[in-house]
Amino acid sequence: MGALEGRVAFITGGARGQGRAHALALAAEGANVVIADAPRPMNLTYPLGTEDDLRATAKEVEEFGGLCLPIPMDVRDPDAVSAAVDETVSSLGGLDILVANAGIVSTGPLDEVTDEVWHQLVDTNLTGVFHVLRAVIPVMRRRRFGRIVVTSSMGGRMGIPELGAYNATKWGVIGLAKSVALEVAKEGITVNVICPTTVHTPMVQPVDADDVPDELVQRMMRANPIPQPWIEPEDVSRGLLYLVTDPGVVTGSVLEIGLGGSARIH
Ligand SMILES: NC(=O)c1ccc[n+]([C@@H]2O[C@H](COP(=O)([O-])OP(=O)(O)OC[C@H]3O[C@@H](n4cnc5c(N)ncnc54)[C@H](O)[C@@H]3O)[C@@H](O)[C@H]2O)c1
Repeated sequence: MGALEGRVAFITGGARGQGRAHALALAAEGANVVIADAPRPMNLTYPLGTEDDLRATAKEVEEFGGLCLPIPMDVRDPDAVSAAVDETVSSLGGLDILVANAGIVSTGPLDEVTDEVWHQLVDTNLTGVFHVLRAVIPVMRRRRFGRIVVTSSMGGRMGIPELGAYNATKWGVIGLAKSVALEVAKEGITVNVICPTTVHTPMVQPVDADDVPDELVQRMMRANPIPQPWIEPEDVSRGLLYLVTDPGVVTGSVLEIGLGGSARIH
């Protein structure tokens, strides 16, 4: 029997990349999974997850034998988030695990960041996490159980040139998660943060591209003590699994999966 048999997990940004790997990892441990993704279009240099991606991932997840509910949803829309949480509870009977993973990136010198890009980053990476936490906590509180993991980034632990706007959102969610962890600590709910270094997903490398990292990734690679360009989504899922199977003694913590970058900070 898997460690998450009978649990229901809700994963934002679950159509592909890390969210997809998390959905597969949690399903392999017996969880029923909701994947929410396919946001409204944004003005970015790479495409976002689609409803086709959602359906394809849901099919793969169900091969583990549990249920997978794909929900098209944009974390920037609070009503859509609340409706998706309600649908989860009515279809799957509860919501025990939240993985607030949806996010976008945009790079460039700060004086070239447009208002539009700044707002897209803040609305998705910070306000989007707020929307999801606010909708999910009352459900977990009623059951006096919850495991919440927020995806930040090693960019939320340090400054990185040309990632200032993104990093501001990723520092922000750490403050949000630590504060909420204190609010719910007596109610059986844990809130932790995961900080991956560069991950080999469509966010940094188009799916049909060869595996040559771009200039920014190469710069990050040179800064990392372990000299490899990126980690794989499954490396992050292993950390996630630790946090969501914890019996309830780890909360307010930040797990850095950073190719040794942690050795250079604090
Ligand atoms: N890839 C990296 O190098 C890296 C490193 C550290 C942290 N992260 C963070 O990890 C998380 C997952 O990213 P990934 O690497 O899997 O990238 P990805 O682009 O492959 O996946 C992100 C998913 O989030 C979805 N999404 C984006 N905005 C959304 C919105 N407003 N509403 C709903 N869904 C939305 C996208 O459609 C996409 O499917 C993000 O928060 C990202 O910032 C990524």
